[in-house]
Amino acid sequence: MATMANSNINAKLVLLGDMGAGKSSLVLRFVKGQFFEFQESTIGAAFFSQTLAVNDRTIKFEIWDTAGQERYHSLAPMYYRGAAAAIIVFDITNPDSFSRAKKWVQELQKQGNPNMVMALAGNKADLADKRKVTQEATRAYAEENGLFFIETSAKAATNVNEIFHEIAKRLPRAQPAQNAAGMVLVDRPAEQARTGTCCS
Ligand code: GTP
Ligand code: MG
Repeated sequence: MATMANSNINAKLVLLGDMGAGKSSLVLRFVKGQFFEFQESTIGAAFFSQTLAVNDRTIKFEIWDTAGQERYHSLAPMYYRGAAAAIIVFDITNPDSFSRAKKWVQELQKQGNPNMVMALAGNKADLADKRKVTQEATRAYAEENGLFFIETSAKAATNVNEIFHEIAKRLPRAQPAQNAAGMVLVDRPAEQARTGTCCS
């Protein structure tokens, strides 16, 4: 089927959430179809891209997988600024990670792009026998805050493609590529930002 050239969209997407919630694992599952039991904790942030065809559009996700460790918190605005979408990830077996997710939602509501498509991922759904956060509680919270909520498992490959598809569908139609990409187009630091040497 033909795709019109002007329906190609670049969308900057950021993953936020507590350390160990499974951000990197979700991205690796989505981008490479891989999963590692001993995934290393992210340092700073990692960049990935993946293209999805949804209906008549092609969405190129430019994905920033941030580090959940508290000492990296101050870097987060660099990654969520100008983002078209965010996935806030928590671990359904860890109530603290759900509290942390709510804090991220608050921060994005205050300081993020007001049109940002926000999804809440209750990850590690394969560990249902160790569940500490109920779907009901999360669903109520998500509805109150206008978030799209889904439970995922990076390990079992459950709802991983689905969450990205759902985000792609929700991205606004008439979005110029430059805006969607949301790169920080100030004078010169782009070169540094790309090589990752600017802020570590
Ligand atoms: P930081 O980079 O430190 O912020 O952590 P993260 O959110 O990127 O978590 P990461 O993807 O590194 O996963 C942490 C641990 O949880 C790893 O040992 C993963 O193998 C495991 N894990 C991630 N997703 C799942 C899942 O869906 N199910 C299960 N059972 N384990 C998972
Ligand atoms: Mg990580």
